[in-house]
Formats: sequence, structure tokens, C-alpha cells
Amino acid sequence: MDRITIRKPDDWHLHVRDNEMMRAALPYTARHFGRAIMMPNLVPPVRTTADASAYRERILAALPAGNRFTPLMTCYLTDDTSPDDVERGFKEGVFTGVKLYPANATTNSAAGVTDFARILPVIERMEKIGMVLLIHGEEVAPDIDVFDREEVFIERRLAPMLRSFPGLKVVLEHLSSKVGVDFVRSAAPQLGGTITPYHLQLNRTDWLGAGNRPYMYCMPVIKRESDRLALRQAATSGEACYFLGTDSAPHSVARKLAVVGAAGLYNAPVAIETYAQVFDEDGKLDKLEAFASLNGPRHYGLAPNEDTITLERQNWTAPEEILVDGPEERALIYRGGETIPWRVVGH
Ligand code: NCD
Ligand code: ZN
Repeated sequence: MDRITIRKPDDWHLHVRDNEMMRAALPYTARHFGRAIMMPNLVPPVRTTADASAYRERILAALPAGNRFTPLMTCYLTDDTSPDDVERGFKEGVFTGVKLYPANATTNSAAGVTDFARILPVIERMEKIGMVLLIHGEEVAPDIDVFDREEVFIERRLAPMLRSFPGLKVVLEHLSSKVGVDFVRSAAPQLGGTITPYHLQLNRTDWLGAGNRPYMYCMPVIKRESDRLALRQAATSGEACYFLGTDSAPHSVARKLAVVGAAGLYNAPVAIETYAQVFDEDGKLDKLEAFASLNGPRHYGLAPNEDTITLERQNWTAPEEILVDGPEERALIYRGGETIPWRVVGH
């Protein structure tokens, strides 16, 4: 198969930031994706219905003329989030979901949840109104190895939460381990999981085995080859509980290369093409549409996109970077300079 047409994909986990970085980064998502879940970890975070309405307006204003991309907004959950505001935002069509970051688990998560008892009223309300909870599933503590954070979070937090709130729809985001993959399958359809393009391609030897490659540093960290293979098997299976979420997360070069470097990979310019390559390598192109365009909307109770995109087997060279007006200057692109064997040729 050298050419494939699928329903227009959606990105169920995306960072575009704000201001100049957003203006530089957003067009790469908006050109191929119908919708995206916009992550709320701005500085300061998108915490209320009012914050999310204003952020949505800024995103819409940054879209190229004529583009029909739809941003789906999320609420950054804190110990003090108001259930009433969450419900209002959901009913007014501002919020699609609520995002739970355990405090200090990742970039801009300092305002995240420190005390899980305090978010119970919000979770109860979400279960009642049918609103999806998106989770950065890592337990962070000095005594937990960084490679075990996903597994420990599942045991200590996620499994009990799913049992206590059986009507709550949840997404475990950016799955990074075989344990995570298996847990999602066991808890579907209450639970779904997104998978990034880079967790499908990289293992920790790629990241650290031949020089430290800061552009492969992200949260959750890249894990073993056996984890990567489990992720690939899950994504390319077409099973309804696994769907596309790029976690494309631009950072300035200065922030990525600092002594304490920022976590996150900017992959939107090569995302759908990279997924197509992975599915093709595994002989599973026939499952790409389920993963990229059907399973996500079904989990969120939304209709799939009506438009289509067409990809073709055709070499092209990924751009190295995006230029950003202002002090952030530029952000390097995942796979920049590499030859990519699949290309979007039509919408
Ligand atoms: C993300 C970011 O940069 O905002 N970073 C990352 O390593 N994935 C946050 C996140 O999703 O964890
Ligand atoms: Zn993310």
C-alpha cells in the first residue's frame, strides 16, 4: 500500500503554549488535524472557565485564515478547583475535560494536585455530568525511581480511583510502559490511553546510549525496548482504548539545553507522518484510521471528523526548527533533518 486516505485525525494531547510560541507552533497542527485537546499548563495555568474561554479566543485568532481547526479546552486541576466552575465550563461548551497533573510531575505542573482528597468533589461532579478526566499518570516522590513512576501511579492512584468512580471516563495520557498499556486494556472502556509518536520510535538507549540527547527528554521518560514494543503493538492493534495524542510540546532551544533542561518534544510538524511510518513498518496501515481518527472521538463521546486526509509513500526532509518572534527565538523539531518516508498529499 503506497497511499492511504483516512478520516481527518485529531490530537488528543497537545501543547501549543501561548503568544509568539503559539503563533509559530499552532499552524503545524492545524494543517492536518481536525481537533486537538489543548493542554492547560501555561504560566499561569488555565484554571477556570474564564481562563479557558480567553485562551480559546487567542488560539482561534492565531489560526491561519480559512482554517477550520477546533481547539478542545481543558481545565488545569488544582487542590482548589471549584466543581461548580468545572460544571459551568462543561455545560457552556468551553471545557471538554479536566487535566490532572500531580504536582511537579512535569513541565509547568507546580500548581498541580498535592492532595488527592481535596479533588474528590470535582471528580464526583465529573462522574455525574459525564466529563472526561485526563491524567498525567506519574507518582512523584524521592523514593520512587523515575522509570517506575507510571507503574506506581497506576497502583496507588489510578486503580483505586477507577473503582471508586466507576462512571468516570478517564484517559491515561502519553502511555510509556508495558504496564501502562496492559492496565489500559484491562480497564477499558472506562479508561483509554494516548500514545505519542516518539514513545513508538525511541527507547532509552537511543536517548542516553550514544551521548545524552536532550531532545529525547520528556515526561514520562522514554523507557526500555520491551516497553516500546508493547506500545507499538497496542497502537497498531486498532483496539478502541488506544488513540493518538502527540504530546507535541515546544520549548526554546535555551530551555532544552539548560543545565536543568525542560521536558518535552516538539513533534507536530512530523506527527501524522511518523505514525503512518510506524504503522507501515508493522504492516498495520489498515489500523491507522482507528487509532488516529476514530477511537479518540468515541472515547470522548464525539463524532469523528467528516473530512479526510491522504498520505502517500514519498520521501521528504523534516524541517529542523521553527522560528519564534521574541526572546524564545526558536524551537527544534523532533526528527528535524531526517528523511520521512510518508507525506500528507491532500485533504
Ligand atoms: C510537557 C510540556 O512540555 O508541557 N512535557 C513533556 O515532557 N511531555 C508536559 C507533559 O505533558 O508532561
Ligand atoms: Zn503533554
